[in-house]
Amino acid sequence: MAMGFLPIHRIISLVFCSASLFTSGATENRLLPSKPLTVGSTLVSDDGTFALGFFSPSNSTRNRYYVGIWYNSIPKDNIVWVANRATPITDPSSATLALTGGSNLVLSNTDGQLLWMANVSAPGNLSSSENISGEATLDNTGNFILRTSEGAVLWQSFDYPTDTLLPGMNLRVTHNRHALQWLISWKDPQDPSSSSFSYGADPDQFLQRIIWNGSRPYRRSPVWRNYLVVGSYMESVKSTIYMTISRIEDEIYISFGIPGVSSTVKIKMDYSGKIKIQVWNSSMLEWNVLQAEPVHECNTYGYCGAFGYCDNTEFIPTCKCFDGFEPLSKKDGGDGRFWEGCRRKETIICGRENRFLTLTDMKIPDKFVYVKNRSFDECSAECTSNCSCTAYAYANMGTTAINGDDTRCLLWMGDLIDTEKSVEIGENLYIRVNRLSDKRRSNILKITLPVVSSLLILICMWLVWIYNCQAKQRNKKIWKKMISEALSTSDELVDGKFPFISFREIVLATNNFSSSNMLGHGGFGNVYKGTLECGKPIAVKRLSKGSGQGILEFRNEAILIAKLQHRNLVKLLGFCIHGDEKILIYEYLPNKSLDAFLFNSTRKPLLHWSIRFNIIIGIARGLLYLHQDSRLKIIHRDLKANNILLDDEMSPKISDFGMARIFDGTQQQGNTNRVVGTYGYMSPEYALEGVFSVKSDVYGFGVLVLEIVSGSKITSMHITEDFPNLIAYAWSLWKDGNTKDFVDSSIVETCSLDETSRCIHIGLLCVQDNPNARPLTSSIVSNLENGDTSLPHPKQPIYFAERNYGTHEAAEEAIVSSANTMSITALEGR
Ligand SMILES: *[C@@H]1O[C@H](CO)[C@@H](O)[C@H](O)[C@H]1NC(C)=O
Ligand SMILES: *[C@@H]1O[C@H](CO)[C@@H](O)[C@H](O)[C@H]1NC(C)=O
Ligand SMILES: *[C@@H]1O[C@H](CO)[C@@H](O)[C@H](O)[C@H]1NC(C)=O
Ligand SMILES: *[C@@H]1O[C@H](CO)[C@@H](O)[C@H](O)[C@H]1NC(C)=O
Ligand SMILES: *[C@@H]1O[C@H](CO)[C@@H](O)[C@H](O)[C@H]1NC(C)=O
Ligand SMILES: *[C@@H]1O[C@H](CO)[C@@H](O)[C@H](O)[C@H]1NC(C)=O
Ligand SMILES: *[C@@H]1O[C@H](CO)[C@@H](O)[C@H](O)[C@H]1NC(C)=O
Ligand SMILES: *[C@@H]1O[C@H](CO)[C@@H](O)[C@H](O)[C@H]1NC(C)=O
Repeated sequence: MAMGFLPIHRIISLVFCSASLFTSGATENRLLPSKPLTVGSTLVSDDGTFALGFFSPSNSTRNRYYVGIWYNSIPKDNIVWVANRATPITDPSSATLALTGGSNLVLSNTDGQLLWMANVSAPGNLSSSENISGEATLDNTGNFILRTSEGAVLWQSFDYPTDTLLPGMNLRVTHNRHALQWLISWKDPQDPSSSSFSYGADPDQFLQRIIWNGSRPYRRSPVWRNYLVVGSYMESVKSTIYMTISRIEDEIYISFGIPGVSSTVKIKMDYSGKIKIQVWNSSMLEWNVLQAEPVHECNTYGYCGAFGYCDNTEFIPTCKCFDGFEPLSKKDGGDGRFWEGCRRKETIICGRENRFLTLTDMKIPDKFVYVKNRSFDECSAECTSNCSCTAYAYANMGTTAINGDDTRCLLWMGDLIDTEKSVEIGENLYIRVNRLSDKRRSNILKITLPVVSSLLILICMWLVWIYNCQAKQRNKKIWKKMISEALSTSDELVDGKFPFISFREIVLATNNFSSSNMLGHGGFGNVYKGTLECGKPIAVKRLSKGSGQGILEFRNEAILIAKLQHRNLVKLLGFCIHGDEKILIYEYLPNKSLDAFLFNSTRKPLLHWSIRFNIIIGIARGLLYLHQDSRLKIIHRDLKANNILLDDEMSPKISDFGMARIFDGTQQQGNTNRVVGTYGYMSPEYALEGVFSVKSDVYGFGVLVLEIVSGSKITSMHITEDFPNLIAYAWSLWKDGNTKDFVDSSIVETCSLDETSRCIHIGLLCVQDNPNARPLTSSIVSNLENGDTSLPHPKQPIYFAERNYGTHEAAEEAIVSSANTMSITALEGR
């Protein structure tokens, strides 16, 4: 047998974090009965890949030592197997690993204290008196094998995995004669003893694997759909990871590999609770993680409750209820999670009325009954005919070699738990619903709507008739009031499609405007999240009391604003008047506002440049519609990052437009007695003189563009220490042709410098001091879309450059006080 010699410097480089490994010059790959292993010597596999010996993972003074196997030429996180993980050696000088009696591997102290021994299961009967003169070899796959002199395997380390699965290793996922096998994580990077996280098959079902936290499932893998599971192509290793399920004698095992690749790969149950597929990157000298699970909290076991599922196709995975189900409790903690799960909107009546709804791309639920040897139609019939069957799923496993049967018919008899939607791992799930459940409801609406509307028209005609014939002396105001009261006591439609929603309904939807439902507050009032009885989420804006608007004017403005419909505007769904309460109801957007991403260090890397560019173009288009294309010509007056909401595709939607109209009825005049705006976004002429025009919105847009490109707040000081503000900083870099430094460092590697530089240029044109020099919204849109290069040079922004404020607070005060001297009555804070 060949012996592996290693140069000294290579052995010295075998340091695990700062672990001390004890090595000597010459190495062997065999442990012989005559030559026990002691601290200071190692076995090295033939090709030098793996080594076995004593190591200490900790550099603390109270060192503990272990016998283990590690990658010989990888300097960190290299331990793949540990023998005595529960019983560390405290006195390394006296420890030996020996083949005793020729038949067993024993780790002991010299005083005879047994620390660990291999559990030898012999192919025949072996008594300790027998002399089998075996030897133990560390092979090139990292397996340490104890054999008899005839070559029969007595024991191997691959049968006793610790936290790592290597290519060539099998993990037993059934338990007929032997117990299941698990990967059990280390306690922490310094301590190999077992933690509560383990990974292996579900003891009830070899078809799925589970990460356990103690005895509780923490993450469940997708159910096998094929006995050969091929992962996605990994560009970094130019290959595809596959997993196979195979039968060896009467047990089923899983194993993995990566064809045609010499890279070092492993699957590790990490102490953090994640199962990781890692590949060694020899140029960067680090482990690259190809895959880690769970990815998101929403992917942890049963996160969304029974009949709920985690939708991974959303930008941020969120809980949803199956079609025809609704959250059991309205208190969903505000994070979109249904703690108590979902329930059917209509109880199911088992029988001919039932049909099965096909949900595509689902990671199918847990707790299934596996029915063998069924065709798809038989599987479907099996579920249909059994009233306790709530759902089924079907697959062909590709080979009969595992169970003598290549079908996989799964039935669910109760709650559907731990379901997810995912394009990569999903399959069809068929769930039982009532045949007419959806149609019946919409039919009722179809019949009742025309009836109610005609009734309303009749009431109006009757009122008009009363007015004409019997109440000619009454003045116009009283008449208007009567109509408005007649209309507002009905919960039905006004003006075609625009609904009036009753105050009672809003109180219910928002939990009586509870503070836990509050999404934010602005100058016009507080905004609450609400859920209508039909399950539809809404955003409720409760205008602060005491606006100058009368009821009819408010109603008219709201109806006009609701007619503004554009992809990049938040939709106004309805309104409500109750006493002196005025309430606007908007569509609810779960991804919150742009500032929640842009100014949050963990979320901002999610906003890739392509998304940001799309957001910039979307805002420009929405603004163009407000300024020019709609009938009303709306000036927003408070464009800022927290007024840009993001939908589930990260498209921007401008919110809070038309508020001045709704609130005060003032929009077209050049002057107003109320300045509504936010420090930093307000154009100089608006902040100082209260004069606004579409060009004041262009200014706000310019600030927004600079924020999106740089990922910094206009008011933030940390990137602009040498400059009065972000605008001056941008201008200075642009002037020197150095726009790259302005780009958010978390995207600068992946962005198009051409586009970022164009955006900075446009941003600077928009924030020029002279409103007439700022571009029109229409030319901004066409420039962003077509990439016209003949833009004029922006002028230096003098508004802020002239003032040299010491701190941000001082700057804000200066503006507020100068605003006061210009007799502006109100200035909204940030
Ligand atoms: C081990 O040493 C490194 C660097 O010397 C140190 O950062 C680390 O905290 C130490 N770990 C322990 C457990 O002492
Ligand atoms: C060996 O088997 C005994 C009893 O079956 C068990 O208690 C012990 O943990 C096993 N040791 C190892 C290293 O698996
Ligand atoms: C092993 O030995 C026991 C008793 O010594 C005996 O009963 C048994 O049949 C033997 N098994 C085999 C496989 O030889
Ligand atoms: C045990 O093995 C040794 C060395 O291989 C040999 O000399 C001895 O005769 C053997 N003893 C028995 C009982 O087979
Ligand atoms: C694992 O379980 C323990 C005890 O139940 C708990 O404290 C811990 O948070 C769990 N860990 C995770 C990652 O869920
Ligand atoms: C190593 O990492 C670098 C940087 O992360 C990457 O560019 C390279 O493709 C990686 N190489 C391999 C072989 O994974
Ligand atoms: C599967 O079912 C068919 C009849 O439905 C039967 O002929 C066949 O033997 C069954 N196969 C197995 C493996 O049970
Ligand atoms: C429905 O399926 C369950 C579980 O397989 C079974 O216990 C029950 O007997 C079945 N009921 C009918 C009516 O087939």
